[in-house]
Amino acid sequence: MSEWFQSFMDDVIDRSFSLQVADPRLPEIRIFKKAATDNLSAKKIPPAEYVFACQLARDATTVRPGAIELARWILDNPEAVRGTDVLDVGAGAAVVAIAAKKAGAKKATALDKSIGGSVFSSRNAVANSVDIHVVRGDFLDPDVYNEACVITAAEIFYNAKFKDRLREVLNTQAKHGKLVLVAGDETNHFLSEYVGEALRSESLNRENIRLMNLSAA
Ligand SMILES: C[S@@+](CC[C@H](N)C(=O)[O-])C[C@H]1O[C@@H](n2cnc3c(N)ncnc32)[C@H](O)[C@@H]1O
Repeated sequence: MSEWFQSFMDDVIDRSFSLQVADPRLPEIRIFKKAATDNLSAKKIPPAEYVFACQLARDATTVRPGAIELARWILDNPEAVRGTDVLDVGAGAAVVAIAAKKAGAKKATALDKSIGGSVFSSRNAVANSVDIHVVRGDFLDPDVYNEACVITAAEIFYNAKFKDRLREVLNTQAKHGKLVLVAGDETNHFLSEYVGEALRSESLNRENIRLMNLSAA
């Protein structure tokens, strides 16, 4: 990431975003969200650039139910991640990686393809006084999973184009004995499909795939 882009995004965050509790169910974690009033009066950031920055920020400032559920579960069950290497894929605001590190993970990585997300994730980690690794990468690339022993995935089964590939990649991790924690809104059709198949599968050890926030779990 170029220095220019980093400082541009930092400037936007400092002027227009403020640290807020990630969710009432996650009072331990604060993240940058849009401030009630912003401070663009100095007009140093032209409107078009500002709109662009806010678009980049969209996924990184919204914490979805799956991430809340997963982060809550990790904070309440720290033994599941203590001393392990955790990889959160499609990390968004990085609350799950932050929760994992707070719960005692040896290493927690927030992986997302979004460049705006990377800036917010890094700032969110600092704001919560934890050291996480922020990586830009593709969760469909099997190589990104190499080092991790616990994989977390919240709200990423939303696209028909990649759902089958994603299912294959996550199932391969579970078959390798890694713990795969998948979370999401149970009304999400692709996720329900994945869950239904994983629960029926004879080649997957149910212990290695846990499904959160789902009536089927
Ligand atoms: C719906 S958001 C979920 C964010 C977060 N996990 C949550 O639950 O709040 C999906 C995230 O996946 C990321 N994403 C989409 N496709 C991706 C890919 N191929 N590799 C990595 N990240 C991806 C998006 O940038 C976005 O941040």
